[in-house]
Amino acid sequence: MARYLVTGGAGFIGSHLTGALRARGDSVRVVDDLSSGRLDNLAGFSEVEFIQGDLADADVARRAVHEIDYVLHLAAIPSVPRSVTDPVRSHRANVDGTLNILVAARDAGVKRLVFAGSSSVYGSEPGLPKRESMPTAPMSPYALQKLTGEIYCRLFHRLYGLETVVTRFFNVFGPRQDPGSPYSGVISLFVTALATGRRPLIHGEGGQTRDFTYVENVVDGVLRAVTAPKAAGEVFNVATGHRVSLLDLLGALAREMAASADPEFAPARAGDVRDSLADISKAGELLGYSPGVSFDEGLRRTIAWYLASQAGR
Ligand code: NAD
Ligand code: UD1
Repeated sequence: MARYLVTGGAGFIGSHLTGALRARGDSVRVVDDLSSGRLDNLAGFSEVEFIQGDLADADVARRAVHEIDYVLHLAAIPSVPRSVTDPVRSHRANVDGTLNILVAARDAGVKRLVFAGSSSVYGSEPGLPKRESMPTAPMSPYALQKLTGEIYCRLFHRLYGLETVVTRFFNVFGPRQDPGSPYSGVISLFVTALATGRRPLIHGEGGQTRDFTYVENVVDGVLRAVTAPKAAGEVFNVATGHRVSLLDLLGALAREMAASADPEFAPARAGDVRDSLADISKAGELLGYSPGVSFDEGLRRTIAWYLASQAGR
């Protein structure tokens, strides 16, 4: 039984990772400051140790990695617009927190750390699909902070021999994604708008595209990155290799929910990337990864979860 630390484990993706680890019998500690995460997200899993704390505090990071084999580092303020409004606060969580956990993991002799990177590091440079070898061009403080985290991870591998792997997530969706703020993931916002009879808001003209990835696929990619023999020091896209425009996404949701897709339009967001699509062949070759849950199936499961949680309220 391996001992895992999931940072940001009370959040959306972190709670799914925690659930998958507990389901196979691994021991899990979560560290989270509950800034966007919720303890409710962990309610379904037994025997999860929880530390509430801010990883920008080095003592919290040190306590969190004590006697841990593997670190899955997801804690972050994961929002492009939030980082545009308050870059300093995002930097503390996304860069200071990452450096602290890397130092603590190095000092505690952690076997491997997997970092939640982001497709946003590619920016709007021409060329799709995005391969890991392509240049990065951050367009927001968030993207720059995620890239800084990646570079720190690679540096810690080279300089100190700490095994680190970067998994670059593309727009992730699924149950437990919090729809509670205008900065939330677009699928959580569209589903809850349609479910409550509100008009979804589209920033821009809706032609922007994303490689929307169901959360179970991301969990699979991250868990493979923990054990794959040739992964240390590497960066991997974890996505589906397909892209969907916002207008097509809304059409698919409206059909599935038997609702009318009648969006309002607002100006495009500052720092927004136009098109995003991953080449996932490197993760296929070195991690044995392929997305097991299709976009349509992921949407169905996500809609079902939001409807059930609304009915339960
Ligand atoms: P989330 O907000 O649900 O999870 C982030 C968690 O980190 C929250 O529980 C939050 O309370 C915690 N946290 C934030 N700052 C912290 C700090 N200083 N100390 C301790 N805990 C802290 O978001 P998510 O969508 O689950 O994102 C998880 C990770 O995946 C993030 O690193 C994010 O950048 C990355 N990512 C997400 C997506 C996506 O589409 N959701 C895409 C690319 C990358
Ligand atoms: C970006 C990153 C992703 C990152 C995430 C964190 C890219 C390609 N992706 O996602 O890797 O982890 O930030 O926040 O950079 N939108 C609407 N209406 C809404 C909400 C959003 O039209 O109500 C639009 C946005 O302007 C954007 C798209 O939908 O064009 C997706 O937005 P969102 O779900 O917030 O994620 P990204 O910003 O793409």
